[in-house]
Amino acid sequence: MRIPDFKLERYFARWEFSAPYLLCSSDIEGWRMKDLLALADPDGQARWDALTLGYTESTGLPALREEIAALYPGLSPDDVLTFAGAQEAVFVLMNVLLGAGDHAVVTWPGYQSLYEVARATGADVTLLPLREEDGWALDLDALRRALTPRTRVVVVNFPHNPTGALPDRATFEALCALCDERGIHLLSDEVYRLLEHDARDTLPPAASVSPRAFSLGVMSKAFGLAGLRVGWLASRDADVLRRCMAYKDYTTICNAAPAEVLALIALRAKARVLERSRALLAANLALLDSFFARHADTFQWVRPRAGSVAFPRLLRDEPVARFAQALVEREGVLLLPGDVYDFPGNHFRLGLGRSNLPDALVRLERFVSDTRGSGG
Ligand SMILES: Cc1ncc(COP(=O)(O)O)c(C=O)c1O
Repeated sequence: MRIPDFKLERYFARWEFSAPYLLCSSDIEGWRMKDLLALADPDGQARWDALTLGYTESTGLPALREEIAALYPGLSPDDVLTFAGAQEAVFVLMNVLLGAGDHAVVTWPGYQSLYEVARATGADVTLLPLREEDGWALDLDALRRALTPRTRVVVVNFPHNPTGALPDRATFEALCALCDERGIHLLSDEVYRLLEHDARDTLPPAASVSPRAFSLGVMSKAFGLAGLRVGWLASRDADVLRRCMAYKDYTTICNAAPAEVLALIALRAKARVLERSRALLAANLALLDSFFARHADTFQWVRPRAGSVAFPRLLRDEPVARFAQALVEREGVLLLPGDVYDFPGNHFRLGLGRSNLPDALVRLERFVSDTRGSGG
C-alpha cells in the first residue's frame, strides 16, 4: 500500500522536540511515571512488580479490556479490542471494512488518517465539510445526500479535532440511526470524549447507541498518556472485531506489556486522572477567552465545546503559515497552520492541554504587539 505523507505528523516531526512551547498539541500533558504508579491499587502494583516482558494476549490484557468496557454502557470486555494507539485501530478497521469499489464519507477538516487510510484501501472518499459559519456543526442533510449504495463507512470525530465542535445528543443519535437504516458502519472517533467543557454535553458512545458502530478510544488525550500507545475499538459487531484481530497479526500482534498495565492503573484511577486533565483545560480555556477578547482585531475565536483543541483564525492579511513560522523562530511558540489539514483560510490549531500554556500566551501576546501594523 502506498499512502501520502501525514502532513500534521511531518510538521510536528520538524518542531515537536525543539520548540519549547507547544501551543498546538492535541494531547493532555503526559503523566510522570512516578505519579501514575502512585495511583496504583494493590492489584495494579502487584501486576507492575511481577510483570514479565513476554508477548501479551492479542485482544488485549483481559483486566484492561474490562476497565475499557466499563466506559461503554451495555458492552462487555469481549466487545473491546486493543491496539497500539488509536492510529493502528483506524488503519486496521479501514482495511477490514473498505476496498476498491467501496465508498466512505468522512467529516472535514479532520485528522488526516481518517480519510487518507480509507483512500489508500482503494475506496472512494467524500469529504463532508464542517463550516465555521455554522459553528462547525454536523449537517445531517448534507451527509444523507453524500451517501450512495456503495457507502460502507461513515466517519465522524466528536469532540472534533481541530475545531472542538460537538453535536447535541439528538443529532448524534439521528446520525447513528441513519447509518443503521442504510446498513452502513459508523466509525465514531471519540478520542477526545470525556473532555467536554460542560459535562452535561457528554454524548453516549456510538457503540452503545448502535450495534454496527465502532467507538474509537485511546489513552493519549483525556487520560494524558500518549506515550503508552494504547488505543481500542469498542463495538458489538463481533464479526468485524474478529476480522480486525486477525488483521492485527500483521501489524503489532499485541500491545507492549508495560503499557497495558500502566493503562489499567490509570483507568482504575480514572476519576483522579480525568480531574487533572479537566482542571488543566478549564484554567487554560479561561486564559484563552481573555486573550482572544483582548485581541479580537487579530483573531476570530470560536470557543470549543469539548476536547483539547480549538481552531481560531488569524485576521491579518498574511498567510497563517508565515505568521506561525516567524512566531516559532522568534518566541519558540508552535502553532499548527490550517494548511496541514489542507483547509483554506487562515485558521490554525491551538492545543489547550499543556501546563506551560500561560507562558506561551505571554510570548504570543508579545509577538502580536511587536508585529502589529507591520503586515507581518
Ligand atoms: C481525531 C484523532 N484520532 C486519532 C488520533 C490518533 O491517536 P494516537 O496518536 O493516540 O494513536 C488522533 C491523534 O491526534 C486524533 O486527533
